[in-house]
Amino acid sequence: TALSQDELKTLVGRAALEYVLPGGIVGVGTGSTVDRFIDALAEIKDQIVGAVSSSVASTRRLQALGIAVFDANEVESLPVYIDGADEIDGNGHMLKGGGAALTREKIVAALASRFVCIADASKRVPTLGRFPLPVEVIPMAEKHIARRFAAKGGQASLRLVGGQPLLTDNGQHILDVRGLWITDPLAFESEINQWPGVVTAGVFAQHKASVCLLGTAQGVKTLT
Ligand code: A5P
Repeated sequence: TALSQDELKTLVGRAALEYVLPGGIVGVGTGSTVDRFIDALAEIKDQIVGAVSSSVASTRRLQALGIAVFDANEVESLPVYIDGADEIDGNGHMLKGGGAALTREKIVAALASRFVCIADASKRVPTLGRFPLPVEVIPMAEKHIARRFAAKGGQASLRLVGGQPLLTDNGQHILDVRGLWITDPLAFESEINQWPGVVTAGVFAQHKASVCLLGTAQGVKTLT
């Protein structure tokens, strides 16, 4: 019988333990797949010093399971960062931010020597862009940024929760941009990041995945 998407997430979450160095601090991402990784990490918590977390939600989960969480400013570098993705292409470029944690995710990814992406097979795409691109923005710039995306053929909408603009962990807003076809992720990321008021674009090309553990019907595939 085929594994469900939840079972695939559990499988890759556990497989990521192989990349955790004993005696070290591990970078931890955000999302439902990472939640499965955190659960698995709790089982070997005596072998690690702790974690640097990319969101309030992951910090809470880590601490509830007895794993020490360090501030990003307390570490100079991390051996590994483990996180999910909303989309990943054949080169390890990703779209992220479906959980609104993209800015802190990019910060922790930048501290890490290796990015291990954990995802179920549904996330693997030939070209990024089917998933609406999340962009964290300073609220006073959001209309201006939406117009700039429109000029590139994208339709930006403000992410809402309960009818109100979603507030990120950094107190900013998220635009979700549909209709973009990101054929050159590195150039696209550099361009969008330079627009005034953009905090972070949810394209991870400069900090792409070094390894992807993909949960498939045939088991965990390791893509490098
Ligand atoms: C969080 O902001 C995102 O970048 C997540 O990494 C992404 O949404 C993956 O989440 P799931 O593992 O829940 O699909």
